[in-house]
Amino acid sequence: MSSITQNTQIKLIARPQGAPTAELFKVETQPVPKIETGQFLVKQSHMSLDPAMLGWMSADRDSYIPPVELNDVMRSSGYAEVIESQHPDFAVGDSVTGMFGWQEYAVSNGQGINKVDPSLPADMVLSVLALPGLTATQGLLRMAQPKSGDTLVVTGAAGSVGSIVGQLAKAKGLRVIGVVGSDDKADWIVNILGFDGAINYKTDNLNEKLTELTPDGIDLFFENTGGPIQSLIFQRMNAHGQIIVCGMIADYTVAEPAPGPNWINIIKKRLTIQGFTMPDHFHEVPQILELLVPFVQKGQIQYRSHTLKGLTSAIGGLNLLFTGGNQGKLIVEL
Ligand SMILES: NC(=O)c1ccc[n+]([C@@H]2O[C@H](COP(=O)([O-])OP(=O)(O)OC[C@H]3O[C@@H](n4cnc5c(N)ncnc54)[C@H](OP(=O)(O)O)[C@@H]3O)[C@@H](O)[C@H]2O)c1
Repeated sequence: MSSITQNTQIKLIARPQGAPTAELFKVETQPVPKIETGQFLVKQSHMSLDPAMLGWMSADRDSYIPPVELNDVMRSSGYAEVIESQHPDFAVGDSVTGMFGWQEYAVSNGQGINKVDPSLPADMVLSVLALPGLTATQGLLRMAQPKSGDTLVVTGAAGSVGSIVGQLAKAKGLRVIGVVGSDDKADWIVNILGFDGAINYKTDNLNEKLTELTPDGIDLFFENTGGPIQSLIFQRMNAHGQIIVCGMIADYTVAEPAPGPNWINIIKKRLTIQGFTMPDHFHEVPQILELLVPFVQKGQIQYRSHTLKGLTSAIGGLNLLFTGGNQGKLIVEL
């Protein structure tokens, strides 16, 4: 039995109006709950901060997952170690990932918890083998049909999902163009990750740069952001092109979502447009990892993580995702 008695938690106390602010949260200390038969207690060491969290904080009940209720611990996934167990499948010392929330300790019955190889660094697990890599692999390799020689454009290209999408596509022999919000990110995806080109959507002439970098049009568009470049990419889609809609972060903080491109091109170009969310595929994680891990083992997937220190750094840190201030997978180390 451990001697830990207090658990610091961060609770959601108000709904966001636009970007996340500190007033939406309160920090509380509660006794660590006692575990019962069939349960275990984890000590969380790393939490993942993700754009979807803003959606979970809103009152929207018409989405793929219910909102976090007010006064509940803020929902998040994380990396933890089992420190007490009365569960037959989880032993003290196991490294696990799961939805532990913004808190130091969590009790679980094992549902939705994955055991991970303890020799892998936590930031690598959260940046590659957890949500970002699963999302990139599901969207690119299981929903689209990427073919060698095709041209792919990926938005949010230096982000945790987009950077893996681009690297998987490069490994499959595609021409890969990434859309990013800074010259540093453009430099990273081209000179370190090996993308064929980058567009800075904040400073480049979008139409000119996109036309120059996609001389043969676009066969596959992996959409992570939305924003003004979406219509231009849509206009350059080739016949029978595919669009995978993974995220629309440009619209998460605005009151009125931007209008999408006109549908006439879907007919003229016979396009396939497919949205998806990972919770629909969590039961298929082993199959998705089977596709992803060989690329990781061959050294074809690089990552960078942006680590904030201390539980409460999550409160101000979440907004980095919406300003573009994060340089890689945004993680809080507790
Ligand atoms: N469908 C799913 O199941 C699923 C799962 C995971 C993630 N996602 C989605 O995938 C997208 C990327 O997520 P991530 O976790 O990999 O985050 P991320 O890309 O690591 O971080 C978010 C990035 O979005 C960019 N951004 C912010 N505001 C923007 C705007 N107005 N216009 C264009 N870009 C903007 C910023 O990069 P720049 O500096 O380049 O602007 C920021 O760094 C998000 O939309 C997220 O919701 C979906």
